[in-house]
Amino acid sequence: MAFQRLASIILLLSLFTISYSHRDNGGIAVYWGQDAREGDLVTACNSGKYKIVLLAFLNKFGAGRTPEWNFAGHCDNGAWKKCTELEPEIKQCQARGIRVLLSIGGAPDYSSYLLSSPEDAKEVANYLYENFLSGQYGPLGSVTLDGIDFDIEVTEDYWDDLARELDFFRRTTGRYFYLSAAPQCPIPVYYLGKAIATKLFDYIFVQFYNNPSCSYVSGTNALLNSWDKWVDLVPSNNSLFVGLPAAPSAGNGYIPAEVMNGRVLPHAKKASNYEGVMLWDRYRDVQNGYSDKIHSNVIKSKLPASVESVTDAIYQSVYKALRRVFV
Ligand SMILES: *[C@@H]1O[C@H](CO)[C@@H](O)[C@H](O)[C@H]1NC(C)=O
Repeated sequence: MAFQRLASIILLLSLFTISYSHRDNGGIAVYWGQDAREGDLVTACNSGKYKIVLLAFLNKFGAGRTPEWNFAGHCDNGAWKKCTELEPEIKQCQARGIRVLLSIGGAPDYSSYLLSSPEDAKEVANYLYENFLSGQYGPLGSVTLDGIDFDIEVTEDYWDDLARELDFFRRTTGRYFYLSAAPQCPIPVYYLGKAIATKLFDYIFVQFYNNPSCSYVSGTNALLNSWDKWVDLVPSNNSLFVGLPAAPSAGNGYIPAEVMNGRVLPHAKKASNYEGVMLWDRYRDVQNGYSDKIHSNVIKSKLPASVESVTDAIYQSVYKALRRVFV
């Protein structure tokens, strides 16, 4: 009898171990498409540095506008044109297991995107689904992207509706795709606050830059305090990324690699929903080689000792709970 109890405990513990070790191992997400000097998409994917590539940006849409994007000279020069030459590259990236998402929004240099009503959100969701997520022929050719990224920097209005409309597609069409959001770090969250409250975003790329109150300025305190608030704010099934400039020229808040490896990542990785680092952008990463300097510390399996002891503590408490049940 005692042996059977012990066997049950071992079985349950090993199931726990399996589900724990099968968790995603984390990685780097990068924005691609805002500087032609960054090189082509497939080279970025073949570098082996990234787990997620965000195509930036679809920057004109909503309120009846004809959608447009800006890919900074990769296949157009601002004006809306088809970008079907990206189709084979997108497919090669996906074949390598890299998730390719379309990022909508970006810095609004003129009032280029906004949603005017819940019905408008539905229309934009239909447009995004049909053109980028369904496999039908669209502006990027016949691609089935892995999801949509919200990099929204105008108003709060109806982004939550857009998230719900897109979620409806992924729940009803039989093919799951990812939703991500790239909010600025201050809390309360602006622009994407209502959207993030829907809990529908698989990935949240918090922009810890250009906001001195929550970025790396003279030390890590502001940033780490802000990270902790984000960990409290979002549910455990919404993964968090530390969003950073990949070089000093890419924005205020650049963190030297040694500070990142020695101080920021060991802290960030204590959160169970830590999933990695987001970099703005591929061009700056090429210039600065930033992802090479941090990559081995970004992945989750390289847990620092302090986190290993937390994991051990979880094991211990599960073990004790099981003992109470079975013994
Ligand atoms: C996270 O869990 C909540 C339920 O607690 C659910 O409504 C939401 O859809 C989930 N989000 C994701 C991204 O899976």
